[in-house]
Amino acid sequence: MTEPLRLTARPRRSRVSRGVRALVRETDLTASHLVLPLFVQEGEEQTPIAALPGHARLSIQGLVARAREAFDLGVPAVALFPALANELKDPRGSESLRPDGLLQRAIQALKRELPGLTVIADVALDPYSSDGHDGLVVGERIDNDQTLPLLAQMAVAQARAGVDVVAPSDMMDGRVRAIRSALDAAGFTEVAILSYAVKYASGFYGPFREALDSAPRAGDKRTYQMDPANAREALVEIALDEAEGADWLMVKPGLPYLDVVRLVRQHTALPVAAYHVSGEYAMLKAAAEKGWLDFDRCLLESLLSMRRAGADFILSYGALEAARLLQAGVTPS
Ligand code: PBG
Repeated sequence: MTEPLRLTARPRRSRVSRGVRALVRETDLTASHLVLPLFVQEGEEQTPIAALPGHARLSIQGLVARAREAFDLGVPAVALFPALANELKDPRGSESLRPDGLLQRAIQALKRELPGLTVIADVALDPYSSDGHDGLVVGERIDNDQTLPLLAQMAVAQARAGVDVVAPSDMMDGRVRAIRSALDAAGFTEVAILSYAVKYASGFYGPFREALDSAPRAGDKRTYQMDPANAREALVEIALDEAEGADWLMVKPGLPYLDVVRLVRQHTALPVAAYHVSGEYAMLKAAAEKGWLDFDRCLLESLLSMRRAGADFILSYGALEAARLLQAGVTPS
């Protein structure tokens, strides 16, 4: 037998068994940390989304069934995105305000069938806009201030349908304040605002834009979404959103911006969310399809990493799969 070396510390002692690893684990991931984004379309059919395997544009009935499955596994919330026929889109996104519009009916159906489910809806023009931008296009520009009342009205229309949380994803300046005051004036003081406070102009949204056919018809989103080179600027965004009345702050995308998730966590007492966006999910699926990655393992590891960076909860297209794995006792670490 060789004499043991006299090492001052042996960190491996904390990894020696499952039991020990459980005792010293710093971060947890459960279904209750997850939000499932879902797409809904008109009619009875569902249309698969090629770049998001396992996801489809669902009928309202299909949406309720999928949400129920997630809810029964402990996922507390869904985030909704309406896929509209192009004929219904116009420059002002008027369809978003109709009380009997697609999203409003989807919200009503979910709240009727699953009253305990938290329903989150995006506030931005892009699913409704013939220009494919989040704000109003005037000439060649996105007009910030003319967009605000449209967003505020959209939030009120969603609140009338019963939404629990509105999530402005448009990155216009002043929108949290405009939405908060419109909600309050209409009596919806309990509808929360999940602000996409720190949203980058990212290439990782590709599959999402395919799902909604919502890519900008001209230009790109760099005049309103943040420059991927900037982190400190996130502090400006969150300070404003907090002052304007945001309840929760989101960083998006997730994995490429874990440093920003951490930074935001350190500078606010509000709950912080991360969005594991469509391209991040698609990458895992594509690599797994080729046999290059273990999807289940890498999904759970990705989600855990966002928790470790400081996210209280995570929006992920893998929320249902992750909840199933966690229920079956598969652990992320
Ligand atoms: C739209 C919106 C986008 C996402 C959420 N809300 C796309 C965009 O800004 O172009 C992206 C979600 C994803 O990629 O999963 N305002």
